[in-house]
Amino acid sequence: MDNAVSEIITKAGTDQAAADPVQNLGPDLADFRDEVWLGLGQAQKTLPSKFFYDELGSKLFDEITQLDQYYPTRTETKLLGTHAGAIASFMGTGATLVEFGAGSLIKIRILLEAMDRPQAFVPIDISKEHLILSADQLALEFPHIQVRPVVADFASALDFGALVADSNSKRIGFFPGSTIGNFAHDAAVTLLATIGEVVGSGGELLIGVDLKKDNKILLDAYNDSQGVTADFNRNLLVRINRELGGNFDLGTFRHHAPYNADEGRIEMHLVSGADQTVNVAGKDFVFTEGETIHTENSYKYGIDEFLALASEAGFDPVQTWTDQDDLFSIHYLRAR
Ligand code: AVI
Repeated sequence: MDNAVSEIITKAGTDQAAADPVQNLGPDLADFRDEVWLGLGQAQKTLPSKFFYDELGSKLFDEITQLDQYYPTRTETKLLGTHAGAIASFMGTGATLVEFGAGSLIKIRILLEAMDRPQAFVPIDISKEHLILSADQLALEFPHIQVRPVVADFASALDFGALVADSNSKRIGFFPGSTIGNFAHDAAVTLLATIGEVVGSGGELLIGVDLKKDNKILLDAYNDSQGVTADFNRNLLVRINRELGGNFDLGTFRHHAPYNADEGRIEMHLVSGADQTVNVAGKDFVFTEGETIHTENSYKYGIDEFLALASEAGFDPVQTWTDQDDLFSIHYLRAR
C-alpha cells in the first residue's frame, strides 16, 4: 500500500478498492429529497441535521469550532492533549482506529502522535470532498499508517465492521465532538451498539460528550455573536434550493436556538417570518408566520447519565476525564 490514501470503498462492495474516487456510500440526491419531503410533511417540520455537512456546511462548522463562544472543540482538544499519554497506553500497540464523523481530522492527530505504532486509521464521514482532502493530507503526514476513508452516513445500517477490513489488530472507535449529542436517546443507544459491533467484544471506544452546565454558556455557544451558527443553520435551506430546486426565501427564515431544560438539549430551529408556501422538488409546503423547522438537537449529559446510556449499548467505563470547569468530558469505554 502506498503512503497516500489507499482506497475509497464503493457502494457496491465491502472491501474492494474503487478506481473512481468520487464513488461513495453516502446518501444520494433521491435520499436527500425523500428525507426533506418527509421532514417538511410533519406537524412539527424537521430536517435531519446530517444534511448540514455539504462542502460549505463543513467549512461553516469548522468556523464554528474556532469561535470563542463555542467551547466544546477547544475544551475537548485540550483534554485529549493533556491525557494523550494515558489514552495511548490504554490503546496499546498496533491498533486500528475508526473515527465516526471524522470531519477535519484535527483531533485524531493528537492520538496518532501519542500511540504506539497504530496500524490503520479508518475515518468515516458523510462530507465527501472534505473527507478526501483531510484524509489525503493526514496520509502524507503519517506515512506508516494505512489511512482508509469511507464516505458514508455513519448512522446508517451499513456493515462498517466489514468496511474496516483490517487484519486482526485491536479496533478502537473514536467518536469526538459530542456528536453523540445530536442523537436522541434510543438512536444514541443504537448507534453506540453499532460502534460496539464494529470494534467487537473487548474493543474500545474513546468518545467526547458535552456536559450539562449553566444555560448562558450553552446559549452563547449556539447563538454566537458573529452569526456563523445562524449561517450554518440556514445553509440547509441554501442546500435544498441548490440541490433540490427549492425556492426557500432565505431572508424570511431566522435562526433560533433555545435550551430545552426538560429534554436536556439545545434545539436549533429556523423560524418562518411570514405566512408562505415553499416548493421543494415539485411539492408545496405551507408555513404560517412563526412556524419553525426543527433542524438539530444537541443533548447535554451528566457523567453518570452518559455512562448509563453507554452501558445500555454494551459498553463498560474504563476512565473518564473532564476539564477543570466541567464543560466537557471524554470517556474511554470497553465493549462487553
Ligand atoms: C457536530 N455537533 C456536535 C455540533 C453540536 O454542538 O451539536 C453541531 C453544531 N450545531 C451548532 N453548532 C454546532
